[in-house]
Amino acid sequence: MFDFEGISMTHFFTDNWEKVKNFQARPDDILIATYPKAGTTWVSYILDLLYFGNDDPERQTSEPIYIRIPFLESCFQEFSTWTEMVDNLSTVPRIIKTHLPVQLVPKSFWEQNSRIVYVARNAKDNAVSYFHFDRMNMVQPEPGDWDHYLEKFMKGKNVFGPWFDHVSGWWEKKQTYSNLLYLFYEDLVEDTGREVERLCSFLGLSTLVEEREKITKGVQFDAMKQNKVTNHVTIPFMDFKISPFMRKGKVGDWKSHFTVAQNEQFDEVYKQKMKNTTVKFRTEI
Ligand code: A3P
Repeated sequence: MFDFEGISMTHFFTDNWEKVKNFQARPDDILIATYPKAGTTWVSYILDLLYFGNDDPERQTSEPIYIRIPFLESCFQEFSTWTEMVDNLSTVPRIIKTHLPVQLVPKSFWEQNSRIVYVARNAKDNAVSYFHFDRMNMVQPEPGDWDHYLEKFMKGKNVFGPWFDHVSGWWEKKQTYSNLLYLFYEDLVEDTGREVERLCSFLGLSTLVEEREKITKGVQFDAMKQNKVTNHVTIPFMDFKISPFMRKGKVGDWKSHFTVAQNEQFDEVYKQKMKNTTVKFRTEI
């Protein structure tokens, strides 16, 4: 890991930086932005089904979600360059994923007034999920043990930088950029159907109630865990024997990881780091 424009990064997300920076967004593009492990795949799949669910049955069963919705800044030798994949997307709209903090998003997205869906997840569950992801993903830095990892998380030394700045930076952006919908993972767990409706209304989609209900059913955790399109089993650098990608899908799993002392320390750090933002999270539902 190294410092890149003030945030911790690995070369997998900076090697193609000139192209990322100069990426040409379009007015009808939809950008899904998240801190890693906040529910990116979940919202990606919902959007893909809303737009293309009825288009091509072959595509629905064979093409993994990470191919359908390219990860803008990533650059893995196993795949072609993702900016090129986005350029080659023939779908309208193009749906694109990013984990970039708001200040690093290519400026053409703002210039084109593209729609953006940001998904945020409470810090404690986000940290736990990221810890297990770093254990199983061989292109991520070794997380060490949980104690060590949590210290690192509190210091913001994770790939894509501090969770605190990420969620609050995007929250501030929402105050001035109206084409941004800010969703919470906890709301999605609480009532997926309601959030699908919220997405439809933001995107101006008049999807039929039956269709929305079908989508809501198809994107439940157990369905996505069984689904090859969404469970990432085809990614060669992930070791599913260590931890599955679709791991628990819960709000409050942090309680089985944080000790009482860690929780107290975390709450103190949280209070400090989040003192200037109005964004509020739920750590249980
Ligand atoms: P856990 O590790 O807590 O299980 P991302 O897609 O941003 O990498 O986020 C992955 C996290 O979202 C994982 O969290 C994963 O299980 C969870 N997730 C993915 N699909 C989900 C769904 N349909 N319902 C609930 N959680 C889901």
